Amino acid sequence: MSEKLQIQPMNGKLGILTPGMGAVSSTFVTGVIAIRQGLRLPIGSFTQMGHIRLGKRTDDRQPLVKNFLPLSDLNDIAFGGWDIFEDSVYDAAVNAGVLEKDLLDQLKPELEQIKPYKAVFDKYYVKKLDGTHVKTGTKMELAEQVMADMEHFKKENGCDRLVMVWCGSTEIYMKSTETHQSIEAFEKGLREDSVDIPPSMIYAYAAIKMGVPYANGAPNLSGDVPALEQLSMETRAGLCGKDFKTGQTLMKTILAPGFKARQLGIAGWFSTNILGNRDGEVLDDPESFKTKEVSKLSVLDTILQPDLYPDLYGDLYHKVRINYYPPRGDNKEGWDNIDIFGWCGRPMQIKVDFLCRDSILAAPLVLDMALLLDLGKRAGLPGGIQEWLSFYFKSPVMPEGQTAEHDLFIQQTKLKNTLRWIMGEEAITHLGRDSDED
Ligand SMILES: NC(=O)c1ccc[n+]([C@@H]2O[C@H](COP(=O)([O-])OP(=O)(O)OC[C@H]3O[C@@H](n4cnc5c(N)ncnc54)[C@H](O)[C@@H]3O)[C@@H](O)[C@H]2O)c1
Repeated sequence: MSEKLQIQPMNGKLGILTPGMGAVSSTFVTGVIAIRQGLRLPIGSFTQMGHIRLGKRTDDRQPLVKNFLPLSDLNDIAFGGWDIFEDSVYDAAVNAGVLEKDLLDQLKPELEQIKPYKAVFDKYYVKKLDGTHVKTGTKMELAEQVMADMEHFKKENGCDRLVMVWCGSTEIYMKSTETHQSIEAFEKGLREDSVDIPPSMIYAYAAIKMGVPYANGAPNLSGDVPALEQLSMETRAGLCGKDFKTGQTLMKTILAPGFKARQLGIAGWFSTNILGNRDGEVLDDPESFKTKEVSKLSVLDTILQPDLYPDLYGDLYHKVRINYYPPRGDNKEGWDNIDIFGWCGRPMQIKVDFLCRDSILAAPLVLDMALLLDLGKRAGLPGGIQEWLSFYFKSPVMPEGQTAEHDLFIQQTKLKNTLRWIMGEEAITHLGRDSDED
């Protein structure tokens, strides 16, 4: 057995802060509060509902993940964040229309207390939004104001640790530039109001500078630049992203590894969907859609490895469409048409029609990634990119020169083995030889 890592004890609450307090964030907060009160179950959360096998098959040790790991208890979490609208979590949840109004009304007194700080916002980066609840100053001053908010939140809520999860709108498509290559260049950019630094990067910088782990639930660049990776190594604040793996892409990363495992070819994969929430409206802008499209398209290439399997996946035509359709609200409908081929090249088709609820799928991911990032920090894991959390993302951030793993099941194995390693348990290889019974 390997040695268990030293894990710092918890001496106060964990504050989970979300820049962006819209559909995902309000569904996450409301859900956790409902679960605390025994009104709902944490369905979809690996840390709360999942079990993990330990030791040999014959040992029959399969504790709940939350009993195996020293994670923050749900009763010891405080919620906060920033938004360009002043709405409390109650108002945001009513507006999002994801959870039942009865449940929201039952929890109203608590939900109304949770209100966003003024946001760091610039319409240049999210064309379809406008709000008045925003901070002013140079980009460096804005970062300092976010840090001051975090200090204030910590004190007000009796927190000894914080984690930040970006749940804000998808910003326009941007590429890494000179400004992003070193901490010095980045800080100069902040002081000089560089256009290369969007709001999501300002929050990420503020968090990481304070040693607070940062996860990015949207596909925009945000923390995914060398300067912030370097800073996160220095402050040992874990960094991960991008884009919650939910909906259509979740289905893709479940199905594609299966086709590949059975050596079935794919000629084309056409995905389209309709959704009518604010996220859909933001993505109606071509510049924000471009960011999302890049994140969604990268998945199949890395799972299917067309270079290694040219006969099966060399000519795959992959198309992704998102259509803003207000009547649907958060209840997205996603259609996939998959043209596959089998023995002797004979074609077949699979149609998937997923009537999903986007924020219902994303909310448990916010909880899991916050609890696990906090665990990683307390266990003294090195800062920088937390590859072991790729399980949660459509477009996992990777260190320079490394290819992301998109296969959900390989990601799950990596996550579980990392947790075993943190806790001093053997990794499980599923070799199953009589001599070691693993
Ligand atoms: N719902 C899902 O399943 C899912 C999956 C993957 C990714 N995402 C991403 O997560 C993000 C949140 O999704 P959502 O459905 O909650 O969207 P939403 O529009 O309901 O909420 C986003 C909130 O962010 C706020 N915001 C925008 N810019 C901000 C800024 N600079 N500072 C603070 N607040 C800001 C908006 O006012 C809004 O309230 C989006 O980027 C979306 O693409 C969602």
